Amino acid sequence: MDSFVYQGGEMVAESVPLARIARDVGTPVYVYSLAALRANYQAFATSMRGLDAELHYAVKANSNLAVIRAFAAQGAGADIVSIGEMRRALAAGVAASNIVFSGVGKKEVELRQALEAGVRQINVESSAELDTLDAVAKSLGRVVDIAIRVNPDVDAKTHAKITTGRKGNKFGIDIDLARDAYAHAASKKNLRPIGVAMHIGSQILSLEPYRDSIRKLRGLVGELRTDGHDIQRLDLGGGYGIVYRDQSNERPFAVGDYMEMVREETAGLGCALSFEPGRSLVGNAGVLLGEVILVKPGTARTFVIIDAAMNDLIRPTLYEAWHDIVPSHEPAAGATLAATDIVGPICESGDYLAQNRPMPPLAAGDVVVVKSAGAYGAVMSSTYNTRPLVPEVLVDGDRYEVIRPRQSLDDLLAADRVPEWL
Ligand code: LLP
Repeated sequence: MDSFVYQGGEMVAESVPLARIARDVGTPVYVYSLAALRANYQAFATSMRGLDAELHYAVKANSNLAVIRAFAAQGAGADIVSIGEMRRALAAGVAASNIVFSGVGKKEVELRQALEAGVRQINVESSAELDTLDAVAKSLGRVVDIAIRVNPDVDAKTHAKITTGRKGNKFGIDIDLARDAYAHAASKKNLRPIGVAMHIGSQILSLEPYRDSIRKLRGLVGELRTDGHDIQRLDLGGGYGIVYRDQSNERPFAVGDYMEMVREETAGLGCALSFEPGRSLVGNAGVLLGEVILVKPGTARTFVIIDAAMNDLIRPTLYEAWHDIVPSHEPAAGATLAATDIVGPICESGDYLAQNRPMPPLAAGDVVVVKSAGAYGAVMSSTYNTRPLVPEVLVDGDRYEVIRPRQSLDDLLAADRVPEWL
């Protein structure tokens, strides 16, 4: 569903004109649609029906408490990769027993805090982590359920920076070494290896890498059971791609088709399943609004300088990611399009949101809408160039609320300390 459409010449989020939010809250600002968040969640949850399966929302995609709460209220658990994310999940109302802790480099103190909080499952990614976790569990007098994240060496055919399931990636334990790792885990008195986990990458557009990985994991589960391990859970990770570019033929698979494939490939395995979607639940449920500061015509192309920048949304710079960008005021039908760079005010040539993009005419004061910015947008922002973190707004029908206020310059400066001896 698209909650961001033109109505009477103005783009709305549900029933609220984006220009109104830009005026009242200021720009740049992230805007999320509650209806879209719920619809994305429901689509996933509905397709899971009949499977022995759970959904753990990958909080890293958008960790605003209101967003986590929206999913928790519908029954989602959380997939976390830090104690900070655990605190957020708990604060948003996710039960500890519904939290899975993933991550390639968990510190002892983080493992301890997770166990003390009662986190349901730790996904271990190395033999060294098995040793640390066993020691922590022992000191707490506990026996903990673990899954081991296995690297199946499958090419997810996505951007190199978000591929995680190949041998050259730092994630998980090489599938060829997995049996040894489970034997190592089983030798530890305070660990109970009961699960196998994978996560092969993000913004994945085809089912095949998933199918290949699940087949490999299925084979592994059989071997592990032969080795005497009581494997009960299969954690299939996240990574489901979304549409970033409306006018293209790049189309991700439907969640229903994915789930059909999962049903086929896991039939008769006797494992409870777990999914960790992030982007597919929030990506298209959010936009970033910026205001045009000025337009600078050049001989090669036109630069439209807006007040949102790479510090607010790093994806175009970091992953060469495409985000559709449109004016909040609907352009006239047949408006001439000109090659335009939409850039921010930051002092880096890499500070752009779109390059060489056919755009209708824009003028100072216009509000532009950077679409599909709900995932890995606000969470990856920084204060580079001493630009305060931007606000986040949640829309529900004809009402909206600021769910994170704009950081003030006073707060930003107050975080620093100047030594007395300086
Ligand atoms: N589970 C694990 C263990 C993960 O590492 C991730 C994402 C997910 C689940 C959720 O994946 P998703 O469904 O959102 O694709 N910043 C990048 C994406 C990084 C993804 C990191 N891991 C981007 O903006 O494209």
